[in-house]
Amino acid sequence: MKEKSKRGGFTGSLGFVLAAAGSAVGLGNIWRFPYLAAKDGGGIFLVIYIVLALTFGFTLLTTEIAIGRKTGQSPLTAYGHLSEKWKPLGVIASIVPVIIMPYYCVIGGWVLKYFVTYLTMQGKNATEADYFTGFIGGNIAPVVFMIIFMAATFFIVYNGVDKGIEKCSRILMPILFVIILIVVAFSLTLSSTDENGVTRTGLQGLKAYVIPDFANLTLKSFVSTVIDAMGQLFYSLSVAMGIMITYGSYVKKETDLNKSINQIEIFDTIVAFFAGMMIIPAVFAFSGGNPETLQAGPSLMFITLPKVFASMGFGTATGIVFFILVLLAALTSAVSLMETSVSTFMDELHWSRKKCCGLMVVIMIVLGTASSMGYGLLDFIRIFGMNFLDFFDFMTNSVMMPLAALATCILILRVVGIDGMEKEIEQSSPFRRKKLYRVFIKYFATICLIIILLSSIANVLGIISM
Ligand code: PHE
Repeated sequence: MKEKSKRGGFTGSLGFVLAAAGSAVGLGNIWRFPYLAAKDGGGIFLVIYIVLALTFGFTLLTTEIAIGRKTGQSPLTAYGHLSEKWKPLGVIASIVPVIIMPYYCVIGGWVLKYFVTYLTMQGKNATEADYFTGFIGGNIAPVVFMIIFMAATFFIVYNGVDKGIEKCSRILMPILFVIILIVVAFSLTLSSTDENGVTRTGLQGLKAYVIPDFANLTLKSFVSTVIDAMGQLFYSLSVAMGIMITYGSYVKKETDLNKSINQIEIFDTIVAFFAGMMIIPAVFAFSGGNPETLQAGPSLMFITLPKVFASMGFGTATGIVFFILVLLAALTSAVSLMETSVSTFMDELHWSRKKCCGLMVVIMIVLGTASSMGYGLLDFIRIFGMNFLDFFDFMTNSVMMPLAALATCILILRVVGIDGMEKEIEQSSPFRRKKLYRVFIKYFATICLIIILLSSIANVLGIISM
C-alpha cells in the first residue's frame, strides 16, 4: 500500500479518462486520420475504422490498462511481475517511449514555431516555398523550439500524476474539445470561388468526407483501407508504447474500467472524426476541390494548411487557433510518453521522480537534438537511407510496437490466461464485452497485428505503397 502511494495515482475516473484521452489524441488524429479518410473512400474508411475501434482497438486497450492496474507497475516491471521469463518484452515496451519522446518533441517544436509565426502576424511568410524546409533544416532555431516544448512537458510530469498530469488534462482536454468544435463550425461555413467562377463550399467538402465512395471500391482498395484503418487505430490509441500500462497502474481498484475504456475510445474517435471535419472542408474549398491535394503528415500541416489559411478570411486568427489546438494535442501526448519513461525508471531503479525526470531530460535533449539536426548538419548520416527522425519512427511504429503488442497477446493467452484479465476488469464492474474480448484476443487481434507488422515493413521497403 505504501509503495502505491509513493508511485502516485489518479484521483478518480474522470482524471484517468482525460489523461488517457490526452495521450490518445495527438498528431495522428489531426494529420493522418483526415488524410486516410479522404484517400480511402470517405465513409467507407469511417465505418471500417469504427468497427475496428470497437473490436480490435477495444481489445488492445483493455489488455494494457488491465495489465497496468493488475500489477500496479509501469511496463518493464509489469511484464516482469506477470512472468519473470517475459521481462524482455517489458524491455521493448519501455524502450519505445524513450525513443519516440525525443523526436515527438522535435515535431512539437515545429508546431510551436508555427503557432508563434501566426501569433506574431507572420502567417503569410509560412506560405513561401521553402519556409518549412528552411526552418527545419536550421541548426539552432528548431532545437530551441524543441527545448521549449520539452520544458513544458517536463514541468507537467515533474509535478506528478495527480498534481501534474491529471490537473493539466482536466484543464487542457476540455479546451481542446471546445476549440475543435469552433474550428469545425467555421470550416463548414467556408466557401470560395476560383478563377473559373466555380464556387466550392465547406459543406461539399463534408460530403466528400462522410459519404462512402462506392464507385471506386475494389477488392484491392478495400483491403488497403482495412490495413490503413488498423494501423491508424493502433497508433491513435497509444497502445504498445507502455503508456496505457503505466496510466492503468495509477487507476484505483474501484474505478469502473469498462466504462473508462469506452470513454477513452469515444473521445479519441470523435476528435479524429472532427479533425476530418475541420481539415477536409477547408482544403476542399480552397484547393480546387480535389481530395488528392490533401496530404498526410508534416506537408499537410506545415505547407498545405498555411496556404489555405492565407487564402481565406480570418486566416491569421484561424492559424493561431489551429496551431494552439495542435500544440495542446501534441503536449498531452508528449506528457504521456515522458511519464511512461519516468515511471519505468522509478519502478526499476527506485529513484525519486525528480532524479528520473532529470535522467529523461538528458536523453531527450541528446536524441532530440540529433533528430532535429538530421534535417540540417547531420543530414549526411543515413540509416538504411533514413535520417534519424524517420529511422526512430520506423523502428518504433513499424517494428517494435506491433511486435510488443503481438507478444502481449501471446503472454495473455499462454501465461496469464484470459481469466486473469477478466477478473481484473470485473473487480470494479461487469465486463460487458467479455465474449467479444475473448474472441478477439484469441484469434483476430494477433492476425491484425501480424498484418500491421508485415504491411508497415513492406511499405518502408517499398514493396507496397500505403
Ligand atoms: N496517440 C497519439 C496520436 O494519435 C500518438 C502518440 C501518443 C504518439 C503518444 C506518441 C505518444 O497522435
